[in-house]
Amino acid sequence: MNESDDSRFEFSHDWFTRWIPAWRAHVPLCTRYVEVGCHDGRSFTWALENLCVDDDATAIAIDTWRWPEVERRFDANVVATGSSYKVRKLKGASRRRLVELPDGSADVVYVDGSHEARDVVLDGCLAYHVLRTGGVLVFDDYRWRNPEGKRFLPPKPAVDAFLSMHADVVDVLYEGYQVMVRRTA
Ligand SMILES: C[S@@+](CC[C@H](N)C(=O)[O-])C[C@H]1O[C@@H](n2cnc3c(N)ncnc32)[C@H](O)[C@@H]1O
Repeated sequence: MNESDDSRFEFSHDWFTRWIPAWRAHVPLCTRYVEVGCHDGRSFTWALENLCVDDDATAIAIDTWRWPEVERRFDANVVATGSSYKVRKLKGASRRRLVELPDGSADVVYVDGSHEARDVVLDGCLAYHVLRTGGVLVFDDYRWRNPEGKRFLPPKPAVDAFLSMHADVVDVLYEGYQVMVRRTA
């Protein structure tokens, strides 16, 4: 439980801290955590230290890491947690890496990668299979708006499509800028 001790880390942005109360309320401790879109690891290291507390817990990090300096910071931040032995990196597009994970193998999946609806719908549908029954799936950026001039569809229609296609197998736990669901079947 080290969220106040940020001096160990080097992060470029903070997209995550404001979600910690909702995560504490709805996202359980887990032994198998998967994050899609890790950047330099702020949410990932928080999950590693606050959710993956068991010695035998594992945390899988998926990202394209297009910029070497971001990947270098991610690696250093993971080392700073002292828990790098729990971490497995899968570098590449999420649609290629999520399919490598066994069905039902995760307790929590956090989808925070591409902001394009056609990618987000794939991430959600693949994540559903990776999640065990009873596990929790979190989407970020549900209410994100495209900057002017960006013509691709944002995450919301993808998350809405996911929710209607999975209405019989998920319960919605939280809906705001993030959406959190529990897999029920
Ligand atoms: C907003 S950042 C993630 C922030 C991080 N979860 C946090 O809160 O600290 C989005 C990340 O998604 C990654 N990304 C974008 N498209 C992706 C894709 N198709 N597959 C895997 N990662 C992707 C980017 O490289 C970037 O690092």
